Amino acid sequence: MEQKLDMKISDLEDDVVVTVNFGSFSLAVVKHDGKIHVLDGKCTHEGGPLGEGYIDNGELICPLHSGAYNIDTGAANENTPWVTDIKAYRSRVDATTGDVYVEV
Ligand code: FES
Repeated sequence: MEQKLDMKISDLEDDVVVTVNFGSFSLAVVKHDGKIHVLDGKCTHEGGPLGEGYIDNGELICPLHSGAYNIDTGAANENTPWVTDIKAYRSRVDATTGDVYVEV
């Protein structure tokens, strides 16, 4: 089911990851190369806040121990084997309103 997030695309700066709370869990949201990416906000290692992470070379990096995730797929980088894949959500932006929708 598609849900509207409590944010607008204009709230995002390129490659600056933010946390968006959604129900009882948090999401990590980032705009990269003009495209929005929505991923689980909790690291699989020790629960690090991925919405406080950063982007490096097309990957979302956990701020605690640098676990790396592909921002398109949520796949864990094999070079950081202490983390496992997270969910990457389908998302879209309404071109008229700037609202961000995510498939949950
Ligand atoms: S909590 Fe994310 S890498 Fe350790």
